[in-house]
Amino acid sequence: MSLLSAATDVRLRAYVPYSRFKVGAALRAGSGAVYVGCNVENVAYPEGTCAEAGAIAAMIAGGDTRITEICVIADSPDPVPPCGGCRQKIAEFAGQDVKVTLCTTDGKTFETTVADLLPGVFSAAHMDRAPKDQK
Ligand code: THU
Repeated sequence: MSLLSAATDVRLRAYVPYSRFKVGAALRAGSGAVYVGCNVENVAYPEGTCAEAGAIAAMIAGGDTRITEICVIADSPDPVPPCGGCRQKIAEFAGQDVKVTLCTTDGKTFETTVADLLPGVFSAAHMDRAPKDQK
C-alpha cells in the first residue's frame, strides 16, 4: 500500500470534534512496515495529538525506530505542513534527507525533506558538554 493511500484512509478516522480538521499521516519504517496515525483531539485543547505523533507512536510500539519516508494529508487549500512540534518529533527518528510528502485531499502534493522542514534542528550533539553525572 502506498503511503498516500494509507494516510488517506487513516485520516477518515481522525477524532476532531473541536477543529473539524482531519489529518492523516503514514510513514515507512526501517523494516519496511507502514505505520499510520490521525489527529486525536481533547476537550482540554492542548492535550490533543497530531497525526504525525500518532504514526510515530505506532512505529515505536511496533518495534521500529527509523523513518525512511513520511506522508501527511489534510483537506486544506495547500499541502498541509507539520507543526513545529511534529517537525522535531519527525527529526528524532529520521535522517536529514528523508522525504516528507505533504498532500491535500484534492490531489496537490509538495515534496520536501526533514532538513528543509527544520533547519538548525536541536540534536543530541548539542548536549555533548552536559556533565554526565549531573544530579
Ligand atoms: N494537525 C495535525 O494533526 N498535523 C499537522 O501537521 C497540523 C495540525 C492537527 C492538530 C489539530 O487536531 C488540528 O490539526 C488543527 O490544528
